[in-house]
Amino acid sequence: MATSSAPGKVYLFGEHAVVYGEPAIPCAIERRATVTAERRSDDRLRVDAMDLTLDGFTVEYSSDTDETPDIDVPDSLLSAATGYVDGAISQARDAAGASDAGFEVTIESEIPLGAGLGSSAAVVVAAIDAASRELGTDLDSREIAARAYEVEYDVQNGQASRADTFCSATGGAVRVEGSDCSAIDAPNLPFVIGYDGGAGDTGDLVSGVRELRERYGFAADTIDAIGDLVREGERALVASDLEALGELMDFDHGLLSALGVSARSLDAMVWAARDAGAFGAKLTGAGGGGCIVALDESEETTGALRHTVDCAEAFRAELDTEGVRKEA
Ligand code: PMV
Repeated sequence: MATSSAPGKVYLFGEHAVVYGEPAIPCAIERRATVTAERRSDDRLRVDAMDLTLDGFTVEYSSDTDETPDIDVPDSLLSAATGYVDGAISQARDAAGASDAGFEVTIESEIPLGAGLGSSAAVVVAAIDAASRELGTDLDSREIAARAYEVEYDVQNGQASRADTFCSATGGAVRVEGSDCSAIDAPNLPFVIGYDGGAGDTGDLVSGVRELRERYGFAADTIDAIGDLVREGERALVASDLEALGELMDFDHGLLSALGVSARSLDAMVWAARDAGAFGAKLTGAGGGGCIVALDESEETTGALRHTVDCAEAFRAELDTEGVRKEA
């Protein structure tokens, strides 16, 4: 039996623009998905995902992809349990040269699904590490990141950047530009996260931005402007200039809103954070619903978010400098 964990992430800057080759800076946060993989004597895969949302569920299916699990759970949960975990197990089998290895897989996660915090990437990264170690193969974090990206790319029909998977595998603040991924030497960042209890549809949101970009030159310019902002933000990050970072986060949120990916709940939480004195606040991830991230060293923003009608949960989550981690 092998157990691994991997962190979720927030986008400090650059979501959506990263899809068009602009740089982005995701940062790992201290909220983890933990995956245990135990070899079975047959070639079947049994997945237990108790904490992906409040409603746990269990699904058992074989490695035969034609067999659809017969359970009554939302599609997003089912694809989290099947598409991502199937893909991760295939990568581990491939890495270890054991194409018919069966597993009992148990997933526990502190990261809400589809809310912009990189839950699927964390599950995939942790699952590849746990399953490949269970098969006697140790992969380094860059290889896990590359394999996890393949899984996300397949499951999300080609609409995935390397940001989530690289960040989750290596931890810390990272810079992603196309296939170029590197660590940034960043200070500790006092992240506060507000979660509206919902989720956005990443595929629809990415398609919506693509249409705007094709229709309007100024939408394409907005995406280029996000790229410029990320380059400026990287300088502020390296200089540990929290005021400048906050100002740029506010700006980024405005540009993302212009691209149509914010939501009333996200705007309400962003404004609650700003009014509480946060350095800055923005949506994180695809948008449409889910989470915002703010920077505040005090407890004011967390308190204000907890009193915001649109906010279901608010929590502090500092930068996690550790990526994928062996737990057992
Ligand atoms: O909501 P998330 O965490 O899956 O982030 C999506 C970020 C996008 O830039 C919109 C798409 C991507 O794959 O980078």
